[in-house]
Amino acid sequence: MPKTINVLFLAAEAEPFIKVGGLGDVAGSLPRALRALSNDEITLDVRLVLPYHPVIKADNLKPVGMFSIPRGGSEVQVEAFETTLKGMPVYFINGDAIRANGSVYSLDAKLDAEKYSFYSIAALELSRQINWFPDVVHGNDWHTALSLYYSLTKRWEEGARHVASVLTLHNLPFMGPDVSEILNSYGLKLAQTDLPDWARVMPLPLGLWSSDAIVGVSPTYAKEILTEEYGCGLNEFLQLRHETLSGILNGLDTDSFNPETDTAIGVNFALETLEKRAANKNLLQARLGLPQESEIPLFAIISRMDVQKGVDLAFSALNTMKRLNWQAVILGTGDPKLEEAAMKLQKLFPERIKVETRYDAGLARQIYAGSDMFLMPSRYEPCGLSQMIAMRYGCVPIVRAAGGLNDTVRHGVTGFVFEKAHHLSLVAAVKNALKVFANREQWQSLQRAGMAQDFSWENSARQYLNLYLSLIKS
Ligand code: GLC
Repeated sequence: MPKTINVLFLAAEAEPFIKVGGLGDVAGSLPRALRALSNDEITLDVRLVLPYHPVIKADNLKPVGMFSIPRGGSEVQVEAFETTLKGMPVYFINGDAIRANGSVYSLDAKLDAEKYSFYSIAALELSRQINWFPDVVHGNDWHTALSLYYSLTKRWEEGARHVASVLTLHNLPFMGPDVSEILNSYGLKLAQTDLPDWARVMPLPLGLWSSDAIVGVSPTYAKEILTEEYGCGLNEFLQLRHETLSGILNGLDTDSFNPETDTAIGVNFALETLEKRAANKNLLQARLGLPQESEIPLFAIISRMDVQKGVDLAFSALNTMKRLNWQAVILGTGDPKLEEAAMKLQKLFPERIKVETRYDAGLARQIYAGSDMFLMPSRYEPCGLSQMIAMRYGCVPIVRAAGGLNDTVRHGVTGFVFEKAHHLSLVAAVKNALKVFANREQWQSLQRAGMAQDFSWENSARQYLNLYLSLIKS
């Protein structure tokens, strides 16, 4: 058993360098939470490797090498840079395929296929350059999945030592484009697999097939993907792998998301000083131009505008409840059709709905701190972070019993949970919540129970460490 475990952690995005969605939160926190578990007996040397997306603005980048990887009789150049994040080495991979694509994810599948294939291969080759070799390669989602395939294929070809591999699944439906030709050009054959034929040319399935362990970002999601409803055609394959599949709930950056110290909110508060929270509702209503009334329930939706998130269900639910007295704030960008639907709703109810179709981290925090109920009727939700932030800020979540929502919100204790992905089920849950809201004491006990929960990363990081240990042992 090594005293030091080297972990190469790969992700398309990571805070604070670049963040598009929840993956960025996870990849920005988990590697450091793992390193923090180091003690006298074991050192966890976790290092993060990211693509050097042109939109990244990082200071103090130190070049750590230029090298080439063979491709189709010629070679492609890789440039690697290094920086540190609170003591953790972070590497950036650059090259033509990465420069060709301005944003993190492109709408052009070809550009993304080239970019992430290049990145996945170069990230592994980097270890030779820096003379640091991983005991575990830990990938996240399809963008990094080919690293695991590459690692496995290389091991066969070169008889190299065993490198354990873990693939964390944040979003199964996104499997990546057909990369069979690209793999071929990099000299990688398509393996004979037990994957369905359509899947064996795509990065995510190939990565799943190659991994020693597959992790879903919540226990419920890890079970859901074994079913036809959530398995995206890979359910039977995943069933065959169920022994290597587990669920580990994401944590939250509880230092950053702390109502006691958050500088983005007007009045700080904590569990013991919950009464101070009311001022934030007042400030939020003022900022949004809503009537400043403390008794009117204020609903919040902070979400990517995506059908996954069920925002359309929330819009219909609000429309259905027009006879009741409430206010709502909706913050988020994404699918133009959903943004439009939100704007339409605001036009219908200008006195009580405010819509902001942009990304605004500061406003989001003020909404968590000031609104009463957080609506999250996701059609599927591998983990979900917003419901955890909401609870931490005393905003009571009303969620669908999907994935991580099911694992983090307890019906009647910390929030409200409903089953069916239908707006009327949401309406019923909201009405239920409104009854409790009318009773101040009962409501506060829900808020307190939510705020008292421990969503820190330490627990999740420990589970990942145990997984690494079990893989290295076998
Ligand atoms: C994806 C999932 C979300 C999860 C996040 C981080 O964005 O949709 O549920 O919380 O990844 O794992």
